[in-house]
Amino acid sequence: MIEFQLNGQAVTSESEDDTPLLWVIRDELKLKGTKFGCGIAMCGVCTVHVDGVAMRSCITPVSVAAGKSITTIEGLESAAGKALMKAWVDEQVPQCGYCQPGQIMQAANLLANTPNPTDEEITTAMNGVLCRCMAYPRIRKAIKAAASGGEA
Ligand code: FES
Ligand code: FES
Repeated sequence: MIEFQLNGQAVTSESEDDTPLLWVIRDELKLKGTKFGCGIAMCGVCTVHVDGVAMRSCITPVSVAAGKSITTIEGLESAAGKALMKAWVDEQVPQCGYCQPGQIMQAANLLANTPNPTDEEITTAMNGVLCRCMAYPRIRKAIKAAASGGEA
């Protein structure tokens, strides 16, 4: 039995220690906002925050979460997270939307550490989160808008 915080709530997982955190979040704890893409840390759609750090939940054993605070897209309430969600709507970023939780969680981690990122810093931070709809220009624009308080 593994206990941790999920979006500010104490939760318990009965899964085996090596079960991917993604499966626990989606199938055991029933939060479906975090997506499955590749399962091998190559696409980023499963990104969550573990004690504030962006991690790929598809390759993170649930045992890593023990005693920690996990945030998913459903619980992203930081200032950066709220600014990003507003910018995402303002810029109409999503196309199919599948990658967007991962994009926003990764971007929130970037802005938490680097409130005014350069283009290069955005590229480096967001490189591993893939979008098959090629929404990259709008994603970048929204991150810049969120960083500058609304001005892209
Ligand atoms: S599903 Fe985790 S990185 Fe692709
Ligand atoms: S919006 Fe479709 S995969 Fe990114």
